This record gives sequence, C-alpha cells and structure tokens, in this order.
Amino acid sequence: MIRKNKISFIGLGKLGLPLATTFAKGGVEVMGIDKNKTLINLLSNGELPFYETGLRTNLNDANGKITYTHKYKEVIDETDISIILVNTQIGQSYSSIYVKSAIKDVCQELKKSDKEYHLFILSSTVLPGDIHNDFIPLIEKETGRKLNEGFGFSYVPDFVKLGSVIKDFENPDMVVIGASNEFSNTITKDLYSCIPKNNPPVFEQTLAEAEITKVSLNAYIVNKISFANFLSNLCEKVDDTNVDNITDAIGCDKRISPYFIKGGLSFGGTCFPRDTWAFIEFAKRHNMEAKQSIASDDINKEQDLNLLEIVNSFDKENVAVLGLSFKPDSPVIIESASIKLIENLLAEGKKVTVYDPLCLEDVRGKFGNKIEYTDSVEDCVRSSELVVVALQYQEFKEINDDWKTFDEHIILDCWRYLDRNNFSEFEYKCLGEKIL
Ligand SMILES: NC(=O)c1ccc[n+]([C@@H]2O[C@H](COP(=O)([O-])OP(=O)(O)OC[C@H]3O[C@@H](n4cnc5c(N)ncnc54)[C@H](O)[C@@H]3O)[C@@H](O)[C@H]2O)c1
Repeated sequence: MIRKNKISFIGLGKLGLPLATTFAKGGVEVMGIDKNKTLINLLSNGELPFYETGLRTNLNDANGKITYTHKYKEVIDETDISIILVNTQIGQSYSSIYVKSAIKDVCQELKKSDKEYHLFILSSTVLPGDIHNDFIPLIEKETGRKLNEGFGFSYVPDFVKLGSVIKDFENPDMVVIGASNEFSNTITKDLYSCIPKNNPPVFEQTLAEAEITKVSLNAYIVNKISFANFLSNLCEKVDDTNVDNITDAIGCDKRISPYFIKGGLSFGGTCFPRDTWAFIEFAKRHNMEAKQSIASDDINKEQDLNLLEIVNSFDKENVAVLGLSFKPDSPVIIESASIKLIENLLAEGKKVTVYDPLCLEDVRGKFGNKIEYTDSVEDCVRSSELVVVALQYQEFKEINDDWKTFDEHIILDCWRYLDRNNFSEFEYKCLGEKIL
C-alpha cells in the first residue's frame, strides 16, 4: 500500500512553496525539500523567502504540518509520493536539467530502497514529449524499476499567475491530471482533491495530453495578447480611436471573453515567452510550423520596439519608469517590458529614474548605478520630463497636477490606467490611441 497522508514536495520556489503550504493547510503532511540551503534555513525559522499574496497566512496555517529538509534519504524513507515543482526556466528559454537532477536525486535513494512503489508527480512545465522520452527512461535507468511496476508517474500542470498563485490554486478553472496508469491517476486525483474550493472540472488525461494541454493554453493566451497589442498599435495610427473601446466591446462576445484582451505592453515573465517557445519547438519536432505562435512572438518583440519609438518621439533626455516587474503584484523582472525599455534607453545614452513597490532590489542588482532609484511615486515623477507608467498600481493613481515639475511634463500611460481628467498641468498621453 502506498502512504498517502504524507508527501514530499521538491522545489519550494515561487509556485512550490505556495502549493506545498496549501497542501499542508488542506491536512496533508508535507516534507518540503529544496537544494537551496539558505531557503531551507529561512523556512525552518518561519521566515518568508519572497513575496506572494497570502503566503504569510498560508505558512502560518500550515504550521506543524510542513517540515523542511535537503536530504533525499528522508524523502524515500518517509514518503511514497513526491511532487516535483522545480524551475524549467534558464534565462529566456526552457530547460529540463533541474527536473532531471531532482529525479536523479530521488532515484539514487529509491534504488537503495526495497519499497514496492513510489509515485512521481511532476508539476513543472515541460516540453511536450519530455516525460516519455526523457524522464521515465531516466527513472528506469537509475533505479532498475519498470514504469507502473516499481514506480508511477503523473503530471499535474499549474495554471496560476504570480501575484495570485494561492487564490488560483484554490479556485482553478479546471484541474488537469495526466497519469501513467489508473493507479497513479486515482492517487493523484485523491491527493489534489484537498486543494480546490470551487469544485472545478477535473480532466483525466494521458501524460502526453497533459503536457500538450499545459503549453497550448499559454500558447493560445499569447495569441490573444498579441492580437490586442496589434490592435492597439493600429489605433495609434487612426484618428478618433481608443483601443479599449474596441477590445471592451469584442471581449463581451463569449467566444472571445474579456480576459487578456487589453492592448498594452509586451507579455513577459517566466511562463508566456517560454511556453510560446515550447509550443513552437514541440510543433517543429513533429515537422509542423506553429504559425500563429511565431506571429504572436514576433508581434511581442515588435511591441518593445514600438514602446521605445513612442518614448523617443517625445525627445526627452530624462525618462522616469514607474512599475518595473513583468506584471503588478509580482517582484519578477524576467522578460519585463519595463526592463527592456530601460536597457534600450540606456543604450541610447538616456538618463533613467525608476520606482517600483516590489522589485527595486532586483532591479538594483541588474542595473547598479547605471540608473537612479527613488523611494516614492512622487520623487520618481518629479525626476524626469517624461514619466512612463508601465504597470497598474493603485498608488500610481496618486499622481496629480501638484507634482508637475517641468514646463513640459508628460505622462505616458501604457495601460490607460490613470484618469486623464485629473490632469490639466501634465500632458497626458497613452498607448492605444493616436499619440502625436
Ligand atoms: N511562475 C509562474 O508563474 C508559473 C506558472 C505556471 C507554471 N510554472 C512552472 O512551475 C515551475 C516552477 O516555477 P517557479 O516559478 O516556482 O520556479 P522558481 O525558480 O521560483 O523555484 C524553483 C525552486 O526549485 C529549486 N530546485 C531546483 N532544482 C532542484 C533540485 N534538484 N532539488 C530541489 N530543489 C530544486 C530551486 O532552488 C528553487 O527554489 C516551472 O516549471 C515553471 O515554468 C510557473
């Protein structure tokens, strides 16, 4: 019999820790393991290693049900189910090296064990085909066990957004479970049933189907984003248009829906760019060209250049950028449109001043003294003749005419988030409508 009341959870990063603590909160005993010893020490002392909405409460609620270790022997001795949620992002592209290394670490101990069965549940995003081509053969080779005899394999991809990870885990639109056989499927389904609060549909799939489901969902969403961005750029060329009036209308059509159809900046973060690449690569490996995804990716790259061109059109030497991560409520700066803008402006010799409520330290680590940092929205706004509002944060709405500092002081609102009626002193401009 397989022990189900305690699991091991490998990878306590931006997704892993919120999910591990959600399991613990749901009554499952969790042994959390991460190769990052500093992280394990912080967690063992009850400290929060990074910001994520609701994580502090989750950690408190999970208290007593979650322990931390970096020893794989304990994983095999004390649990028969391991969830693996390590990173599959290196720089801007996909890599499975961490998944393979986590699998190998488990296998080294599993090989020595005489237990009947161990269930591997992978949750990291993977390139479709990797599970059957790489991970299962790796486990068989490392342990001498056969799939569905000495071990099982399930794949449960995550459909969550940084900044609302816990809420999204607890209220998913659907749960997708790929499994190597009925036994693995049943155990995985039972285990995950403690997470959602909203009774979502559960799709029981093959491993290959679940892999494709994960990347095709993001590949589809980026098509919507790039379509809206293209529409936004078109509106910038046409008199008497504002892209929101168009996307708000078409988003009411149920076949389209209002989500992710707002013109603005390029998509970024850890998932969209990488999953688009994975989808294109997956198609290529089957001698097919993922033409929509290639086009969406191209439009996304053009979006960064479009922003640069618009910023340059104001011909200002000093530029302030408000909001630096790839989306609000997240400190992640990977593939962020603001970061790319700053890099482009620096390359042109411009002076850049920034503010962000969550990610200033990471930005400082990246740019050092090449740019100026401010501690408040007001200081940032007052620093430069052109102020780019790149993210939607409530505190940016505090910008008001009293803060006008230069004869010509321009606000460029990338998401049309501020109320333009508040400004008579500042010159208010936004993307998605004719600018000049
Ligand atoms: N971040 C998102 O928005 C998001 C959304 C959906 C899916 N995903 C996927 O979830 C996965 C995890 O993403 P993340 O953002 O949590 O990554 P992360 O980089 O924040 O965390 C990964 C953690 O795994 C640990 N790790 C790496 N190799 C290990 C090993 N061999 N043994 C133990 N620990 C190891 C790292 O130390 C790190 O703490 C990725 O595949 C990602 O694509 C992420």
